Amino acid sequence: MIAIESVSRRFGDTLAVDDVSLTVEAGSVTVLVGTSGSGKSTLLRMINRLIPPTAGTIRIDGRDTAAIPGEALRRGIGYVIQGYGLFPHWTVARNIATVPRLMGWDAARIARRVDDLLELFGLDPALYAGKFPHELSGGQQQRVGVARALAAEPKLLLMDEPFGALDPVIRAKAQDDLAALQRRLGITVVLVTHDMAEAIRLGDRIGVMDGGRLLQYAPPAELLSRPAPGFAERLLGGSDRPYQLLSLQTVGDVLQAGEADAGRVGGEGGGGDVDPGVAPITRHTNLRDALAALLWRRADSLPVVGADGAPRGRIALAEVLRRAGPPA
Ligand SMILES: Nc1ncnc2c1ncn2[C@@H]1O[C@H](COP(=O)(O)OP(=O)(O)O)[C@@H](O)[C@H]1O
Ligand SMILES: [Mg+2]
Repeated sequence: MIAIESVSRRFGDTLAVDDVSLTVEAGSVTVLVGTSGSGKSTLLRMINRLIPPTAGTIRIDGRDTAAIPGEALRRGIGYVIQGYGLFPHWTVARNIATVPRLMGWDAARIARRVDDLLELFGLDPALYAGKFPHELSGGQQQRVGVARALAAEPKLLLMDEPFGALDPVIRAKAQDDLAALQRRLGITVVLVTHDMAEAIRLGDRIGVMDGGRLLQYAPPAELLSRPAPGFAERLLGGSDRPYQLLSLQTVGDVLQAGEADAGRVGGEGGGGDVDPGVAPITRHTNLRDALAALLWRRADSLPVVGADGAPRGRIALAEVLRRAGPPA
């Protein structure tokens, strides 16, 4: 758990981060979103003390980070930046091994870890361990950047615009891969982006920043249905909001109406990648895809099927529409 308590950072006359407080739960994904210059990167870098705060306290698992030597702190925290910061004259294997080497792991353990990570990221070690960064595609470099950040098995991963250099199709895949990896490893992620759709897709909680201040800190469904007036509302844009809200809810949520509130639907947050004419609707279908199917088939309702193909009830257009906006 990370506790950021009244933290500020001044650069000369610029107050880059202005009295920010927020708590990041262990095992969750927090996304800091805002326009360029809003203080996102500065706040992120204060967590691993690449930039020390000028005021306030940051605790990780109860320990004041100011009391931990910077290098030791950073070895325990993964860090990924836009462009990935791979060393161009080092092989993929050597890049991934950076922190384990600094920590004095023995060569056999490092080699095993590098192989395991390459496998985890879908890169055949026999093919990729000896390559140099310029021999990789953008998506592969991105994965090596994340593999390197995870090499020493940190429980916390900081990511600064990690998908910014990827084209849209690869970016969506990389976002889904990160969400799956985060759930599998149970790590805590703090990610910075200027892209609200990315924030909604990935965040358990989203912090909206402007002019160094934290304007709102809320789960995506709450941010979409009750954005703080002014800037947070503008950043969300207008016409996408109903669809984004629907993409955070599933058919299962509707069928058990009255029970759990809308939660994040991992890996399905973007919606729109299933054929609305043929894809069966299950409890796990997000409401954005369900709406597309209802519209495409011009139906008032459609059957919901289980994994075995057997009927499990129906999803009604009227129910979906009820969930496309803020609570009435
Ligand atoms: N090392 C620095 N020296 C002086 N000003 C800085 C420095 N780093 C950031 N700033 C200023 O602090 C503000 C916030 O920057 P930053 O945290 O990088 O924003 P973001 O990541 O949201 O684009 C900006 O006005 C930026 O110019
Ligand atoms: Mg930045």
